[in-house]
Amino acid sequence: MGWSEKSRNLGRLAFFASDNWITILGIILTTGAGFTQVWSWFLELAQPHTVHPYVGIVLFMVLPMIFIVGLLLIPAGILLRRHKLQKEGKLPKESPKVDLSAPHIRKVLWFVAAATLVNIVLMGTATVRGVGYMDSSRFCGLTCHTPMVTEYRAFTDSPHSRVGCAQCHIGPGTESFMRAKLAGVRQVFGVVFNNYSRPIPSPVVSLRPARETCEECHWPQKFSGDKILVRTHYGEDAESTPSTTVLMLKIGGMTGAASTGIHGRHLDAKSRITYVAGDPQRQTIRQVTYRDDKGQMVDFVSADVKPAPGSENMEARQMDCVDCHNRPTHAFEMPDIAVDRLINDGRYSRELPFAKKQAVAILKADYPSQDAAAVQIPQAVAAYYQSAYPEVFSKKRDLVDAAGNALKDAYLRNVSPEMKLTWGTHPNHIGHQDGGGCFRCHDGSHTTKDGRSIKADCDTCHVILAQDERDPKILKDLGIK
Ligand code: HEC
Ligand code: HEC
Ligand code: HEC
Ligand code: HEC
Ligand code: HEC
Repeated sequence: MGWSEKSRNLGRLAFFASDNWITILGIILTTGAGFTQVWSWFLELAQPHTVHPYVGIVLFMVLPMIFIVGLLLIPAGILLRRHKLQKEGKLPKESPKVDLSAPHIRKVLWFVAAATLVNIVLMGTATVRGVGYMDSSRFCGLTCHTPMVTEYRAFTDSPHSRVGCAQCHIGPGTESFMRAKLAGVRQVFGVVFNNYSRPIPSPVVSLRPARETCEECHWPQKFSGDKILVRTHYGEDAESTPSTTVLMLKIGGMTGAASTGIHGRHLDAKSRITYVAGDPQRQTIRQVTYRDDKGQMVDFVSADVKPAPGSENMEARQMDCVDCHNRPTHAFEMPDIAVDRLINDGRYSRELPFAKKQAVAILKADYPSQDAAAVQIPQAVAAYYQSAYPEVFSKKRDLVDAAGNALKDAYLRNVSPEMKLTWGTHPNHIGHQDGGGCFRCHDGSHTTKDGRSIKADCDTCHVILAQDERDPKILKDLGIK
């Protein structure tokens, strides 16, 4: 039998054997899923909108899977039927005559060819769409709901809210995409079997070097100069009296050949600083190695930091952006800072007596879950003013309600009892709020053998222009107020 005769025979056999329910089911699934997908794309073209994460899972993941399963079932049915017939000895020696020159058979063949082409286009489009969807922030943040919803809320409330999770967590390139998706599969099993860690541990050990993520958008060596930082905090007195601090931060950068200031000293091309942490969270730092201007390596060793149990053999780490900017987007606040911001933004009015003190107390209370807090926090605010200041409560009911809502939002953005994520779980390293941050190295206790230490004077990093003043004169001088 020649090659063409053989293939013709096979073709006939396929026609004959496709008369089975598995193949027919495959055809139905493929056609159904295909049409639904195309229909959803038309809907989206007509009216672009972001889809709900669960709808997204069905559209971008389940439908393409049904489509593929359908496609696989078609030949599987044919092969199974052939196998069965063969076993029963019913397979005709000569396949039933199918005249390939007959017009209706040719039509069928054309149809199969066209359908295959359409399938390829459909699969391609679905893959591109699915990949895009799986990289979207809503997918990462909301699909599994509980685990990352707090990160998602803090992210939407940050300067990076229009930068996708994937742009920092995955970065460009196929390899990292595949690696992230494999990790994602593991996480899905974690959620299904309910055995993921709470809270999600930080730092993220597998985070790509900042050079390949942050530096796709920022080029910090190019920032130079200083930055004025104005911070207003509120007191715990009845009026929640404001006090303002004004700092000039020496951000620095590369100016000509010299590297200056905060960015320049840590980040210039000489890759100056590596360190060994004292614990897996990198909250303490045992040893810092610095390449000084003459190219000499200088070792600063801490007299105080002893390695945490199990952390004796931590590897040295090259310092990069996230060693200071560890919270560039999902930055969790402490209760007093969260309340300062609500008051600053006018969401929690200082016209309410003891606004700051009361709000912090309510935030710090224990709540069994995010859902419970969402109900109990507004109630607690209302109950306080109703009993302690009935007149304020009746005259300024709208302010009380707004305050309750704002405080609820602040809680949901920072705390998740379900995830054991609470105040201070993930500290921010950008300053020295709780003694950590920059002071993990700049504390005067990391010294060289010959007694030099990492600079720790208050004017190393900033000039304090005003500290906790009611109405700092410097702001008027600068024309800011
Ligand atoms: C601007 C960059 C950036 C973006 C955008 C970003 N992250 Fe992160 N994320 C980080 C960094 C940096 C860390 C690690 C901090 C560390 O290693 O100390 C981190 C850590 C995490 C962690 C570990 C727990 C924690 O809070 O530290 C989770 C979970 C997480 N990110 C989820 C998300 C989700 C979900 C989104 C999108 C909604 C997102 N991230 C967007 C930079 C980013
Ligand atoms: C896809 C681009 C992109 C990536 C990736 C990115 N950023 Fe940004 N970042 C931005 C944009 C845009 C802004 C300005 C937002 C604004 O001013 O509203 C910004 C702002 C910032 C700011 C200033 C925030 C403030 O409070 O004003 C810091 C700090 C920062 N980014 C650090 C980082 C770090 C660290 C990383 C890596 C972990 C990173 N960024 C990754 C685009 C990016
Ligand atoms: C040694 C700590 C440190 C390192 C490392 C560091 N930064 Fe910064 N960066 C700071 C501090 C401190 C500020 C000012 C924070 C503030 O405004 O409160 C800052 C500010 C910024 C800003 C805002 C600038 C502005 O004018 O508002 C951007 C953007 C930024 N950093 C990006 C980066 C990127 C990208 C990297 C890594 C390549 C990086 N930083 C590495 C400490 C650091
Ligand atoms: C891992 C350790 C480490 C951390 C964390 C760190 N630094 Fe540094 N920093 C160094 C070392 C080492 C030097 C160089 C030695 C020196 O200048 O004393 C340095 C130098 C500097 C200088 C230059 C001082 C000068 O006058 O030359 C500034 C400014 C600075 N750091 C600011 C910061 C700020 C702000 C932070 C926190 C956001 C920070 N550093 C976090 C290790 C660190
Ligand atoms: C290694 C660098 C460094 C050193 C040394 C340092 N600071 Fe700071 N400090 C910072 C940075 C960075 C910020 C801004 C943090 C931020 O953006 O929230 C800051 C913020 C502050 C603030 C404002 C806090 C707020 O949010 O209201 C005060 C006050 C302050 N520093 C006081 C001091 C004093 C006093 C000293 C000396 C004992 C000192 N700092 C030493 C880096 C440093």
